[in-house]
Amino acid sequence: MKEELPAKAPEARPIAKRPATVKPPALKSTTTLAVDVGGTGIKAAALDEKGKLITERQKIKTPRNATPKKLIAIIAELAGMAGAFDRASVGFPGVVKDGVVYTAPNLGKGWNNFPLEAALKKKLKRPVRVANDADVQGLGCVTGHGDELVITLGTGFGSVLFVDGRRMHLELGHHPFRNGKTYEDELGNRAFVKKGKKKWNKHLREAIDEMAKMFNYDRLYLGGGNAAAINFKLPPNVKVVSNTEGLLGGIKLWQYEAVAKK
Ligand code: BGC
Repeated sequence: MKEELPAKAPEARPIAKRPATVKPPALKSTTTLAVDVGGTGIKAAALDEKGKLITERQKIKTPRNATPKKLIAIIAELAGMAGAFDRASVGFPGVVKDGVVYTAPNLGKGWNNFPLEAALKKKLKRPVRVANDADVQGLGCVTGHGDELVITLGTGFGSVLFVDGRRMHLELGHHPFRNGKTYEDELGNRAFVKKGKKKWNKHLREAIDEMAKMFNYDRLYLGGGNAAAINFKLPPNVKVVSNTEGLLGGIKLWQYEAVAKK
């Protein structure tokens, strides 16, 4: 059917003058030095706003008895190698609350109650945020929906739970797992080296079953250097995540805290 045209075309209304399009000022790009303190190496790289690497990842071996003094000197050296940066994020292998370290089972002495964030701020003369290493890795990979457990398999056994994006740091590594041994005793790097890949994989499979029952997570992410040695088929809601995703956590640490502290 042909559409009926109105008898008279409506009067053209004057076009309101639109304000000239104002471009928002370009955001100042912020470079973050992302530092990951591990039991065997301390790694650092400079990242852009999006978490893309600006510099190559540099690594310095973790010294024996890594005290606060030794670690701060190494982080300052890595900062020097990375060049210009505006702020630093540090993933630390122990319990950290509000920038203060309480435990460091795989480093050295002198960490209980050590204000690492404040000490690094002073040394690097930049804003610094320090959080647990597994937490930082998790911030980089979780979706923010549902119950998400993140486990890191490196020197130690790192753990953190995210519920709709809110994080709850865990220290599952030091809890009983099997035969009076802890998760870290059985799945940390010492066990990996001592008992071999086959046994380690067998125990990891058992640990995944245990954790699934314990947390009923929607998704489990496995990170850390030894995650690459997993040789069995993982359940569909379990995923191996890379270190690059961990780096992204160094950026998220700033966004997340900004929201959480409001
Ligand atoms: C520590 C955790 C840490 C994990 C991985 C454990 O021994 O207690 O805080 O996240 O190792 O480094």
